[in-house]
Amino acid sequence: GFSFKLDDHPKLPKGKTVAVVVLDGWGEAKPDQYNCISVADTPTMDSLKQGAPERWRLVKAHGTAVGLPTEDDMGNSEVGHNALGAGRIYAQGAKLVDLALASGKIYEGEGFKYINECFENGTLHLIGLLSDGGVHSRLDQLLLLLKGCSEHNARRIRVHILTDGRDVLDGSSVGFVETLENELAKLRERGVDAQIASGGGRMYVTMDRYENDWDVVKRGWYAQVLGEAPYKFRSALEAVKKLREELKANDQYLPPFVIVDENEKPVGPIFDGDAVVTFNFRADRMSMVAQALEYESFDKFDRVRFPKIRYAGMLQYDGELKLPSHYLVSPPEIERTSGEYLVHNGVRTFACSETVKFGHVTFFWNGNRSGYFNSELEEYVEIPSDSGITFNVQPKMKALEIAEKTRDAILSRKFDQVRVNLPNGDMVGHTGDIGATVVACKAADEAVKMILDAIEQVGGIYVVTADHGNAEDMVKRNKTGQPLLDKNGNIQILTSHTLQPVPIAIGGPGLAPGVQFRKDVPTGGLANVAATVMNLHGFEAPSDYEPTLIEVVDN
Ligand code: 3PG
Ligand code: CO
Repeated sequence: GFSFKLDDHPKLPKGKTVAVVVLDGWGEAKPDQYNCISVADTPTMDSLKQGAPERWRLVKAHGTAVGLPTEDDMGNSEVGHNALGAGRIYAQGAKLVDLALASGKIYEGEGFKYINECFENGTLHLIGLLSDGGVHSRLDQLLLLLKGCSEHNARRIRVHILTDGRDVLDGSSVGFVETLENELAKLRERGVDAQIASGGGRMYVTMDRYENDWDVVKRGWYAQVLGEAPYKFRSALEAVKKLREELKANDQYLPPFVIVDENEKPVGPIFDGDAVVTFNFRADRMSMVAQALEYESFDKFDRVRFPKIRYAGMLQYDGELKLPSHYLVSPPEIERTSGEYLVHNGVRTFACSETVKFGHVTFFWNGNRSGYFNSELEEYVEIPSDSGITFNVQPKMKALEIAEKTRDAILSRKFDQVRVNLPNGDMVGHTGDIGATVVACKAADEAVKMILDAIEQVGGIYVVTADHGNAEDMVKRNKTGQPLLDKNGNIQILTSHTLQPVPIAIGGPGLAPGVQFRKDVPTGGLANVAATVMNLHGFEAPSDYEPTLIEVVDN
């Protein structure tokens, strides 16, 4: 029968402390003025790159290598950490939803049948991120879902939009709203009462994660469920244009607004008997709103009114919590992750990041699963993030604190693996502030140094890598790599991730002398890292894992 017991590695010893450091949003690209990593002072990462060539390489972090639909899909933290932790490539949410929509199976599942029962007498509400970023949601999927729902008798539909500007260019919200409005107009011609009912910027409304700031979800609740918001408009297009112009707000940070009719009455609060779908496929930024929509007993904020609705997620967002209990598409079944194997083989693990990335090295790492596998062998430490700020004003974030906690964990010798995420390159990169991102990269590099110094002291091993690119390219480019200018001659700032590969470096005094990167996995990606790390703990990886990146040569 199946056993979690791993075979011993024939050549590599057990008992070394292994530090697995994930730099979030740290890709490899040609140096230039928009490559904040190359501009920043990053002596530690530079020395890894300039060190032994057989101990530094690049791995793929985007597209099909991490289970995304196409090679045009940039990497992201969910699929990146899933791959790092699980050691295999799973078709991810974006892909699974594409397939379910294309085959029509989405309308045959339990989740759709459940909400479908409200279509006769209630309103269908769709809440989610309106963009073609492909990280949390996709506009084309929303449009297909709208069409499909109307063909399955939805008569009254309200869309609650969250504007992006983070996985896509700032300002692109206007075009996405136009596209959606056109589709809704077509539905209206066919007799469906369909409109946008509310909106707001994703970082300010609804899409918080890891309980960093419940006020974000609360603002969304007020606009979407209660129909209350500080701004009221007759149309979403007007809302987005005016808020951008008058408040100089970016798409990410638009304040909440509701759409009202000619009598100033909100057009789409959520009431008893309605159906609600959150149409994002990605879990982290939907889990909190899913709790608010689903849990009878809830104390994170005063919901004022808790309508009796039928709610389904696009996916189930948390397999351990079974949240939400109804969903349109089954999530990837990520099982037997490296974390689970390692605790079954006695490896004591410490994982740490600050709040905004904490779930990345725990929840995503463990296959979208909350909690410990074995609380006696694992300790997860969350450093509270600053909330209510955009991280360009605090680009060092909690990198130092994360590094200190990790150093202490290493020096305590209580752990065999310490695993951290350093958020700076990503979280500051997403703000589009180039100067701040340079500061962020330096801070991340200093944190790496502190961790490597501790590894040096205990005779351990390090694996330094990243989950996807971001800070290495801050400008939108044309096909030949030239920066693109907008109509005023300004460069177009790239707030999103990239398609770039990421570095991986191994080393430390505990690394056995003949260990080097193999030459025969040139297309290796993030999913190859789990087997690599298992080897460094002295184990063979399970046979169905993607191959290890390392070999041991006799010298
Ligand atoms: C976000 O959620 O902040 C971005 O859409 C993606 O960033 P992440 O994949 O690095 O978390
Ligand atoms: Co990011």
